[in-house]
Amino acid sequence: MTAAEFVPDHGSLDELRAAVQGCRGCELYKDTTQAVFGEGPGDARILVVGEQPGDVEDRRGRPFVGPAGKVLDRAFAEAGLDRTTMYLTNAVKHFKHRPAAAGKRQLHQSPDRGEIVACRPWLVAEFEVVRPARVVALGATAAKALLGPGFRVTKQHGVPLPWPSSADRPEDFKGVPEAVLVATIHPSAVLRADDREAMFAGMVEDLTGLRGPA
Ligand code: URA
Ligand code: SF4
Repeated sequence: MTAAEFVPDHGSLDELRAAVQGCRGCELYKDTTQAVFGEGPGDARILVVGEQPGDVEDRRGRPFVGPAGKVLDRAFAEAGLDRTTMYLTNAVKHFKHRPAAAGKRQLHQSPDRGEIVACRPWLVAEFEVVRPARVVALGATAAKALLGPGFRVTKQHGVPLPWPSSADRPEDFKGVPEAVLVATIHPSAVLRADDREAMFAGMVEDLTGLRGPA
């Protein structure tokens, strides 16, 4: 199963956003509030890809509005980037989590390879509309979705790459024009780190090269 049969051909962002609520391309739609689609201008120069919605995003229906989103907003601000000019989305559109005990927060689980690949048609459709000049991969899941399983964010963060030509599976993105991709850590890694300041500073440094007109 993949999302492919649920993605409208040549859909606008609004059409895609409406259709994703009916997606049954993998099992992750079960036990969620809703799918969380990308958000931002359709002509954004920079497209940012995260992992998947968290608990707050699942309830509010918007990407990066929980704790990781706050870290990301601060990193963008320090790197001289304005979130409202960028298109933000996730590799996987439904929240994967362990069942929560009554009254407790639901605990996030990382999506597996099958789920990343199953959900990728939505991501490809977003790229086909937005056609960004710059792409940001936040963390390993985004990097795997965009570049293939062999990419190591720990080794290659902050290095501008020609994309999709640098990807293992460029045929998935064959309708997407060449862009420059930069991978960095996921903002929730900053929240989990012992040395938050250093992790955050590294993330800001990776993002700083994205500023500028073209
Ligand atoms: N983490 C993500 O990767 N995406 C979100 O939208 C929120 C948290
Ligand atoms: Fe469809 Fe993606 Fe949700 Fe799976 S996670 S049901 S592929 S939108």
